[in-house]
Amino acid sequence: MSYQDVYNRWKNDPEAFWMQAADAIDWDTPPSKALTDKGDHMYEWFADAKVNTCWNAVDRHVEAGRGEQTAIIHDSPITHSKREISYVELRNRVASLAGALRAKGVEKGDRVIIYMPMIPEALEAMLACARLGAIHSVVFGGFAANELAVRIDDAKPKAIIAASCGLEPGRVVHYKPLLDGAIDVATHKPDFCVIFQREQEVAQLVEGRDFNWHGFQYGVEPAECVPVEGNHPAYILYTSGTTGQPKGVVRHTAGHLVALNWTMKNVFNVDPGDVFWAASDVGWVVGHSYITYAPLIHGNTTIVFEGKPVGTPDAGTFWRVISEHKVKTFFTAPTAFRAVKREDPKGEFVKKYDLSCMDQVFLAGERADPDTIMWAQDQLQKPIIDHWWQTELGYPAICNPVGIELLPVKLGSPSLPMPGYDMKVLDEGGNELPPGELGAIVSKLPLPPGTLPTLWNAEDRFKKSYLTNFPGYYETGDAGMIDEDGYVYIMARTDDVINVAGHRLSTGGMEEVLAGHPDVAECAVIGVADQLKGQTPVGFLCLNAGADRDNAEVVKEVVKLVREKIGPVAAFKLAVVVDRLPKTRSGKILRGTMVSIADGTEWKMPATIDDPIILDEITEALQSLGYATA
Ligand code: COA
Ligand code: AMP
Repeated sequence: MSYQDVYNRWKNDPEAFWMQAADAIDWDTPPSKALTDKGDHMYEWFADAKVNTCWNAVDRHVEAGRGEQTAIIHDSPITHSKREISYVELRNRVASLAGALRAKGVEKGDRVIIYMPMIPEALEAMLACARLGAIHSVVFGGFAANELAVRIDDAKPKAIIAASCGLEPGRVVHYKPLLDGAIDVATHKPDFCVIFQREQEVAQLVEGRDFNWHGFQYGVEPAECVPVEGNHPAYILYTSGTTGQPKGVVRHTAGHLVALNWTMKNVFNVDPGDVFWAASDVGWVVGHSYITYAPLIHGNTTIVFEGKPVGTPDAGTFWRVISEHKVKTFFTAPTAFRAVKREDPKGEFVKKYDLSCMDQVFLAGERADPDTIMWAQDQLQKPIIDHWWQTELGYPAICNPVGIELLPVKLGSPSLPMPGYDMKVLDEGGNELPPGELGAIVSKLPLPPGTLPTLWNAEDRFKKSYLTNFPGYYETGDAGMIDEDGYVYIMARTDDVINVAGHRLSTGGMEEVLAGHPDVAECAVIGVADQLKGQTPVGFLCLNAGADRDNAEVVKEVVKLVREKIGPVAAFKLAVVVDRLPKTRSGKILRGTMVSIADGTEWKMPATIDDPIILDEITEALQSLGYATA
């Protein structure tokens, strides 16, 4: 069947399409119907089914006789260690952990926050929650205590599962003090914490509140899988919006299972038993979907990689892991390839490894620039597939579905919409734009199974963020165009979200931190183009009148403040003091114009600008940082 046949089959009868995809899942009670229209553009998939995610990701493979197959490979160049866990071992470990959580009172519907580095125990913690029907919320290790506290207060977890430490090149990330700090700051307090003690740093436990991962499992009854309703939340994953308050994307259980399983063959072209590697982090949606859930649901072997594309120990790490573990499909972010290319432009490391096991490479998380794609194609001689999706959607929405058909590649486009997505480009008034014209990228409602049904405890925000501007459509927040062949091109965000090294960050959140500095009267943060990370944040500060401070000192302090409040992942290292910010006459800061000046792209003097002279000062400030030189 061609891509077009599959897409048409979906378009002609979306519910029948997804009901058929649902046959691949082990149901306790199969769904009687696919879609429930809840009114007001709110939908749910497979709502009346009963099912358990952990059963589908783990136990059923053991029951089917594949218990000895490797489920997880932990490859950690940063600790010089490797380890494999079979499906039967995984089942036993997860059942025991779930039993211990249950013995401490965790039940279906309770929230559990997971704050862990790239170790198999992170996946086991997620699966143990799924086993009990508890709703996990994984927080990325690069976030600081304050960000963790915001998530604790929003999700109100009964328990927090954390590791004693994470490891970044050249430094230990002390998770436990960050966790303790977050619990101190948060209004909500968890009943208890479970700490996985890593040998690289053993953390001090708080008597009565903290339990040792191994110790608290002693003597407990392993837990069986608890069937949950199809519309029961499997997890909450916080992602950046326009403000410092992150959005809690909710994922319902049944749609998540059906859709992820469908993508493994149709998009990523792997069969059960194949090794699949997504080099991301469990703290991001890529990690949720393609390190933990999809490969395991589909019966693949997944790789948990604790390292970096370069420096652990060299730019050949990716190729070593691929050849050593026989990876069939590899998934990474363009920034990672840019990092490798910078160190090994001629691909000397590529030549050292036998990569014949690998059939294709997928890139996502940020725009894949044609240079990077062409470099990877030259070096690897394999299809390099750009694909587009978002935390909200959970799996590829615009893609070249290699498992169905390798479509002609158009550089700069992630290709065509997948079944489930009827994408349009609209102008500000909601009118559909012709091919080639730039506008807001939207998809007709309902969205397919596995996409966000709402935001955690924030239905109004959900509607306002995604459903209100263009009634009847889901607003992606991205701008772009569709060409005559239906290929979609993603050009930019329509909001103040930026993408730094494939990490989605809120400039609004950074501005909130800068504004908290006692000497800062006003500020703006923009994302400027960066050769390695795609974008990098730059802050502009106006100091309080009479603040008799050395500008360089204030800059140093705000850089430190963002690292402390948001975390190292914000990669906020550049700021500059200016007298005034460019604004419209109604007082809106002209961030878009500042970005164009920084990047040296074409821009027009905004008709509504209050005082054009300010732009000269902004240009000079940017030049002092090495930007706006074109
Ligand atoms: N825990 C704690 N700190 C973390 C962290 C984690 N899990 N992950 C990253 N950080 C820190 C980094 O150490 C760095 O700190 P520093 O300022 O002290 O150097 C900072 O956060 C910024 O991280 P990042 O932007 O990821 O840069 P990096 O120095 O780690 O290098 C590249 C990243 C450039 C090598 C890049 O190619 C890469 O691999 N990016 C990650 C791509 C990715 O997986 N994206 C996920 C979406 S698919
Ligand atoms: P996240 O929710 O962190 O996955 O970030 C999603 C956002 O990253 C999208 O809305 C896009 O802005 C950007 N993005 C992800 N993948 C791509 C891609 N293949 N091309 C261009 N932008 C992308």
